[in-house]
Amino acid sequence: MQMNSAHIDRLRYEANARLDPRAKAEFGQFMTPSRIAEFMASLFSPQARPAVLLDAGAGIGSLALAAARQLHPVRIEAWEIDPVLRGYLTRNLAPLAAASTVHAEDFIEHAVNRLQFRAGPGFTHAILNPPYKKIGTASRHRLLLRQAGIETVNLYAGFVALAILLLAPAGELVAIVPRSFCNGPYYRPFRELLLRECAIDRLHVFESRRSAFRDDDVLQENLILKLTRGGAQGDVCVSFSPDASFDGMQARMLPFAAIVAPGDPERFIHVPTEEVEGNDHIFSHSLSELGIEVCTGPVVDFRLKEWFAPQPGRGTVPLIYPHHYNGAGLTWPREHKKPNALHRSPEVDKWLLPNGCYVLVKRFSAKEERRRIVAYLHDPRTLDAGQVGFENHWNVFHAGKQGLDARLARGLTVFLNASAVDRRFRRFSGHTQVNATDLRNMRYPSRAVLLRLGRACRPGLTQDAIDALLATIE
Ligand SMILES: C[S@@+](CC[C@H](N)C(=O)[O-])C[C@H]1O[C@@H](n2cnc3c(N)ncnc32)[C@H](O)[C@@H]1O
Repeated sequence: MQMNSAHIDRLRYEANARLDPRAKAEFGQFMTPSRIAEFMASLFSPQARPAVLLDAGAGIGSLALAAARQLHPVRIEAWEIDPVLRGYLTRNLAPLAAASTVHAEDFIEHAVNRLQFRAGPGFTHAILNPPYKKIGTASRHRLLLRQAGIETVNLYAGFVALAILLLAPAGELVAIVPRSFCNGPYYRPFRELLLRECAIDRLHVFESRRSAFRDDDVLQENLILKLTRGGAQGDVCVSFSPDASFDGMQARMLPFAAIVAPGDPERFIHVPTEEVEGNDHIFSHSLSELGIEVCTGPVVDFRLKEWFAPQPGRGTVPLIYPHHYNGAGLTWPREHKKPNALHRSPEVDKWLLPNGCYVLVKRFSAKEERRRIVAYLHDPRTLDAGQVGFENHWNVFHAGKQGLDARLARGLTVFLNASAVDRRFRRFSGHTQVNATDLRNMRYPSRAVLLRLGRACRPGLTQDAIDALLATIE
């Protein structure tokens, strides 16, 4: 007899309440709601052979049970390190007892052993919501993974990489994971392994950061991916839903080149969606085609401590931090624990820019901030100075270390503050930081369009007005 999903969800709440909060963080215990588990299981292809299913970090077994409802006959191997959850898991898989094994072991350790000794059959299917936790550089997990040829910085990528390597040819894997692997620089070896060993069949993203693990209050951008070991890479189905109810889901087939740009040495994985595609005429140019560059703010303050000037005075130069800018523009100098200026010296001068028109984007936005990209126009007329220091918490758009044309800078600021740009950026970037590399990799309107936006721009535009302005671009 199989359990229904409402019952599984009740057990999930019950088990959750019994978990030690420290263990929750230690083992990344955020369990999958049954609606998501069912969606994930539905992604497996109709099966031509008896299934051997892997579920690593199985929790109470929500994913394995959802998969067992799709796959007949199925033999399950599940790993769960936490004894409380393992109790639930064993009981939940009991109806399938003859065909299931619950391993009370560390999956990484067991999987690396299996791979080294080529023990056990290849799995035909794998379904995972792996633990999310950083792996220290000298940790046992890091070293074990390295033995299996896997270099990664987070347990989730280690779990997925091992599951991939344990799949039989044509075996399928469905996983829900954070999006950070898509373009995080440290995940490049993982991306290479994934793209070398598998074809990507499906990518699904949620609009809301909170939706997938709402019950656990997890603010994490998640992605569901389906891979086939050794599959021929064809078009990829990319889908998108406002939340984890999957209501209003939109899906479309895209050429693989839209997911991983041909020749991209970083092997970034993009998840373009319908809405974004509809805007492609706006996102048409690279920054270099526009003659614009972007860098992080050159002044790393702790290196110039000895030159700090709390307030401006003779022989100082303004030092601009993100707290100097808000919706109303520049407020400088400001009472703050950080200095407002630097004393001039050859050491300081190296990091200054001539006072000009720059577009400034905060590198770190608060998680709950409405937009990830928050851009400000630095207007040289608001600062009586020949040169200026932009602190390292900024990204600075410039032209050859000089200011930009004023109208172009205004247009670029309006563009960067538009909701459509923010949505596109979020789909591309899984992390909450805004890196200069991400801004460099983004596409922008033509120079003519930016100049048009710059001409139409008035001070104090509301979000709606900015979005309406962008919508007028044909
Ligand atoms: C994100 S939870 C997901 C649980 C379940 N797959 C689900 O979807 O509801 C990850 C699970 O992995 C388990 N875990 C963490 N580290 C593990 C390890 N090294 N080996 C086996 N299980 C582990 C945790 O105890 C936790 O139950």
